[in-house]
Amino acid sequence: MTDAGRLTVIAGPMFSGKSEELMRRVRRATIAGVEVLVVSHSLDTRSDISTITSHIGMNIPAVPLGDVESLVEAAGAEDYDLVAIDEAQFFGPDLVPAVDDLLSRGVDVIVEGLCVTFDGAPFEPLPSFMAVAEEVLRLTAVCTVCGRDAVFHQRVDRTEARVAGTGTASADSERPTVAATEIDASHVGGLDSYVARCRKHFTGVAR
Ligand code: ADP
Ligand code: TMP
Ligand code: MG
Repeated sequence: MTDAGRLTVIAGPMFSGKSEELMRRVRRATIAGVEVLVVSHSLDTRSDISTITSHIGMNIPAVPLGDVESLVEAAGAEDYDLVAIDEAQFFGPDLVPAVDDLLSRGVDVIVEGLCVTFDGAPFEPLPSFMAVAEEVLRLTAVCTVCGRDAVFHQRVDRTEARVAGTGTASADSERPTVAATEIDASHVGGLDSYVARCRKHFTGVAR
């Protein structure tokens, strides 16, 4: 009987180095001769969608997929040892049973994504994966106001975001109309739209 796969979760706010850590692990696995399927989400159009790209431009090739069904199909197309998923929050809660199935078939899985929304709420499916993973790497970013550990991120005015490092960024006056837990193209963004914040300086809330 095949051994079950191992679930690793890399979770945190934006800018916490989740994508860099996923890339590091994928590179190591590749050197070790592991057959890896690297998955990005096609909603993430910040850079070439056929890559996973970090905020400072590090990248590796990836297969861009738009939903869980496509992911299941791609993972079943070859005999992969490891499936590594970037931006897992974009696949939504249906990703949980799909990953369970891969694990039960002996495939190792790395699930990487945001565990908190821009208004400070748990962002499924990451919390569910964290509950049952063999390994959870919980990362923090650097608060752009005080430099302490940031577990949150918030949307900002685009002009102020450009000077986020000075601590002058503030919550966006034109709040998005789509709920933070929804998967929506209007939420996609980087340093132009979000800043990392510690618990003290996070003001984007409704908690
Ligand atoms: P994530 O995927 O978690 O959003 P990335 O792996 O793409 O993060 O990028 C992490 C990199 O972002 C860091 O190594 C650093 O160079 C850069 N960075 C920019 N702003 C911040 C910040 N506020 N805190 C930490 N790193 C930041
Ligand atoms: P990152 O984790 O690599 O920084 O990318 C997170 C992506 O998710 C980015 O495109 C912005 C988007 N996003 C949401 O869709 N909803 C949210 O609540 C937050 C904070 C980010
Ligand atoms: Mg990332």
